[in-house]
Amino acid sequence: MQDFIARLIEESKRFLNERAQIDDDIGQEAAKFVAREIPAPSGTFEKSDSPLIRWIEDSAKHGSSETANLLKALKPALPFLPWKYNYELRADMPDLGNRMGWGEILGPEAPYHDEHFCFGFTLLGKNTLYPAHYHPATELYVVLSGHAEWTLDGVSKVRGPGEFILHPSNHVHSMQTRDEPLLALYTWSGEDVVTLSKYV
Ligand SMILES: [Fe+2]
Repeated sequence: MQDFIARLIEESKRFLNERAQIDDDIGQEAAKFVAREIPAPSGTFEKSDSPLIRWIEDSAKHGSSETANLLKALKPALPFLPWKYNYELRADMPDLGNRMGWGEILGPEAPYHDEHFCFGFTLLGKNTLYPAHYHPATELYVVLSGHAEWTLDGVSKVRGPGEFILHPSNHVHSMQTRDEPLLALYTWSGEDVVTLSKYV
């Protein structure tokens, strides 16, 4: 089972390495992950009992030829990622933890331990708003499957598979899915990858 996690890391690095050949803000962020040394895992990947499991099959159905290889590597790993939602609870959106979350592979609390860099996958169910939030870490996303509306600093755009999105440190951003779930790869870098997101 750990084998397909290792293959997923390798395929993720290959994917980001292509983008890292372009020397711009996104390319430089992608290059940080490519260069990151991945430690031996200190935890294991067990089958998840997260409520997000119900979205998993659908979540990988809306990819593109660009993301097909990475989705193929990701699919067998999806049920075993440590899916969680550990942000502050919101009285106005009590269902949020059942509709969105992330499975972190590398990070301060992930099976591959890294205090200064995170890498994982975010999943949003259909018709779900990931509300406006910010965090000190610089965040790079790659959409793997699903079209959704992405908003950064008040500017919204529909993004689809293969698109890269950079959220600079402490800039407010949100995502809204419609009739497709969203599956995306993310990385967090910078001085502080421990402080969680805060809602606006
Ligand atoms: Fe974010």
